[in-house]
Amino acid sequence: MSATADTIEVVPFETPIGAEIRGVDLQRLHDATFAAIKRAWLAYKVLRIRGQRIDDDALAGFSARFGTLDRAPIKAVGTSYTPSRPEVTVISNIILDGKAIGGLGSGESIWHTDMSYNDIPPDASVLYGIEVPEGHGDTWFCDMERVLEDLPAALRARIAGLTCKHDSTRNSAGELRQGYQESYPSGEEQPGAVHPLIRTHPETGRKSLFLGRRRNAHVMGLPRAESEALLDELWAQVGRSDATWIQTWKQGDVVICDNRCVMHRRDEFDPSLRRLMHRTQIQGTRPF
Ligand code: SIN
Repeated sequence: MSATADTIEVVPFETPIGAEIRGVDLQRLHDATFAAIKRAWLAYKVLRIRGQRIDDDALAGFSARFGTLDRAPIKAVGTSYTPSRPEVTVISNIILDGKAIGGLGSGESIWHTDMSYNDIPPDASVLYGIEVPEGHGDTWFCDMERVLEDLPAALRARIAGLTCKHDSTRNSAGELRQGYQESYPSGEEQPGAVHPLIRTHPETGRKSLFLGRRRNAHVMGLPRAESEALLDELWAQVGRSDATWIQTWKQGDVVICDNRCVMHRRDEFDPSLRRLMHRTQIQGTRPF
């Protein structure tokens, strides 16, 4: 039997962002149910749906309801982890026959917005926990609308109209991507995309602070020292407990994050534990 819009329950977490959707089987999703999920997602910015058992086709099929799927980011050594499905990224610390089956390992994945080093970064990321050590490798989500709202007025006025370079050379685990060099002559010449520091959500019209990732970031038009000082001041607000929800994974969890207003990071975990997630990302529009 298909789930209907009447059967789902939206249960907000006791944090400023995030909600759980209950009563859904992602393999049998009625259009009206998806519409309710989409409304909840725009309201709560990050959603969790527990207890799913889906393959890559079903993950891609559910993700594609949010929009066209983006290709997975290039991995550090250049090729895709899932050649048959270039939209699915494998995130894992598992080593098989001496080779990593996925990216990001077991170390910390620092605060970032997925693929914001592209001119058109994905609107959304969908994470599916296939094999997860419970209580390890939590993923944190920070509401960047809340962070912007709470900035001192003078700081907010100062960053209005400024743009920032989002570095593309390294992933959130710090690994150098294939084809890039260790360093570049200046922050402005760093490879990556330039985006506004304050962006507007194209569907809700709300504004948020858009930082991408800290490493090698540069505020365009500012001398290096001034850019660093400004970015340090802004980054000090990321991950505040009153703007953050922490996902503690269970096998079968699906988490959908609105990258247009939410950043995320992941805790490091014991490398002897196995962790395997599949992720898709949904094409976006140029941030403005
Ligand atoms: C990521 O997309 O940054 C990875 C999140 C995770 O491993 O939980």
